[in-house]
Amino acid sequence: MHARVVYDTTFGNTRTIAEVIAAELGQGTTTLSLGDLTDASLDGVDVLVVGCPINGWRPTERMQEFLHSLTPGSLTGVRAAAFDTRVKLFIHGDAAGKISHALHDAGATIVAKPQGFIVQGTEGPLAPGETGKAGAWAAFIGAELRATA
Ligand SMILES: Cc1cc2nc3c(=O)[nH]c(=O)nc-3n(C[C@H](O)[C@H](O)[C@H](O)COP(=O)(O)O)c2cc1C
Repeated sequence: MHARVVYDTTFGNTRTIAEVIAAELGQGTTTLSLGDLTDASLDGVDVLVVGCPINGWRPTERMQEFLHSLTPGSLTGVRAAAFDTRVKLFIHGDAAGKISHALHDAGATIVAKPQGFIVQGTEGPLAPGETGKAGAWAAFIGAELRATA
């Protein structure tokens, strides 16, 4: 298994969630900031978890560019899941669902429902319990990966 957690972040909260997910998935799972993405970054990756903050009810600009760069079929054979970070608003929009759809459209098999994690205000910190929730979500993904290996 070559697993990678690709994330975008402005204030660091999404990076923290990405690192918790990578640690829980284990087996050498690496994190990668979208700002450091190169053409070869996804070579050999067969498990891909992708997340970013919601900005203006949708994924960040950088995440939208990344998703648009995925050609149909480019993620065939990849098992994937998506998450976002968000503030607790009545109408907060969505990033994780949109990311998940784009990964699926590129050929990935989605192994977990999109998941949002709450930050307390624009700059965070993460709300109490959210890193634990991230660990549990990643543990579910790990179990799905083992069950469908
Ligand atoms: C320009 C901007 C727009 C935002 N729009 C939304 C939004 O529509 N819905 C929401 O829930 N949070 C929104 N937020 C809050 C971000 O989701 C929050 O800052 C982010 O989760 C923090 O993650 P980070 O530390 O990884 O940058 C917005 C934040 C910024 C800076």
